[in-house]
Amino acid sequence: MRSIVSRLIYSKSSISRLYTSGLLRNGRLLSTDSNHVDEPFKVEEAETLNVPPPPSDKLLVLGGSGFVGSHVCKEALEQGLSVSSLSRSGRSSIRESWADKVAWHQGNLLVPDSLKDVMNGVTAVISCVGGFGSYSHMYKINGTANINAIRAASEQGVKRFVYISAADFGLVNYLLQGYYEGKKAAEAELLSKFTYGGVVLRPGFIHGTRRVGSMKIPLGVIGSPLEMVLQRAKPLNQIPLVGPLLTPPVNVTTVAKVAVRAATDPVFPPGIVDVYGILRYGHKG
Ligand SMILES: NC(=O)c1ccc[n+]([C@@H]2O[C@H](COP(=O)([O-])OP(=O)(O)OC[C@H]3O[C@@H](n4cnc5c(N)ncnc54)[C@H](OP(=O)(O)O)[C@@H]3O)[C@@H](O)[C@H]2O)c1
Repeated sequence: MRSIVSRLIYSKSSISRLYTSGLLRNGRLLSTDSNHVDEPFKVEEAETLNVPPPPSDKLLVLGGSGFVGSHVCKEALEQGLSVSSLSRSGRSSIRESWADKVAWHQGNLLVPDSLKDVMNGVTAVISCVGGFGSYSHMYKINGTANINAIRAASEQGVKRFVYISAADFGLVNYLLQGYYEGKKAAEAELLSKFTYGGVVLRPGFIHGTRRVGSMKIPLGVIGSPLEMVLQRAKPLNQIPLVGPLLTPPVNVTTVAKVAVRAATDPVFPPGIVDVYGILRYGHKG
């Protein structure tokens, strides 16, 4: 129902914009000013309604015990979703009331059998599983583990799958080859298995408060000012080799918000969302 309503309103707003600006002919918009030809009509990204998802939506967060994953779980609960998580350690060490509302499962994405039961009845998956280490470890955690999850979700008929990948960091990619190769392999699998419901988010550095044991590390002290400055410096990002290092950081709550929206909003466009897209969607409210 929500899907139909959002689609109707979506198409209505697009059509009304066509009428207010002129007539659509041969893929171009002709303005009412006869000398003026507008650029081809471009559908704005995710012109979605911020309607809360139906409570029947069941979200599985892979890596819900981690830094990004815990924020995703919290955001999804705030949106009224039923939330479960899977990670090797199981329950998060966070002692906050929202954590009691998550169904915590223990399992390893590198052992596909772990995935059989947790996917039952799940409507959407957000994977926050990734990590660093040796080449083969990085390839396995970022690539193979997520590919296993994408295949299991597709076989179980899950509708939408969001994968937290990473921005291209130019020179750094050579130093973290397994990380980026793994990410790219998982992205390719997602876009082929979930043509209509697969979304890849590619943030750069994610800041916020990261917990390490009982300690809270306020990464935002560095991340927030950098985000403010660099989000307005997009052209610098195009400079060969060093440009990607100027990719703006993004707040973890923004990433979580966009991930949950991408997982639950049926008109959120499938495909890759770069850091500037994440910032835009995050500010859309
Ligand atoms: N943090 C950043 O600045 C940043 C920037 C760009 C992209 N990203 C990406 O965002 C994602 C989340 O990052 P994060 O910083 O939140 O990482 P994190 O804190 O290390 O969380 C990773 C999560 O994945 C789980 N996990 C790891 N291996 C697993 C496996 N084999 N099976 C099941 N669960 C597994 C971990 O729990 P267990 O160890 O208990 O299994 C943990 O819950 C990653 O893909 C990362 O590459 C992060």
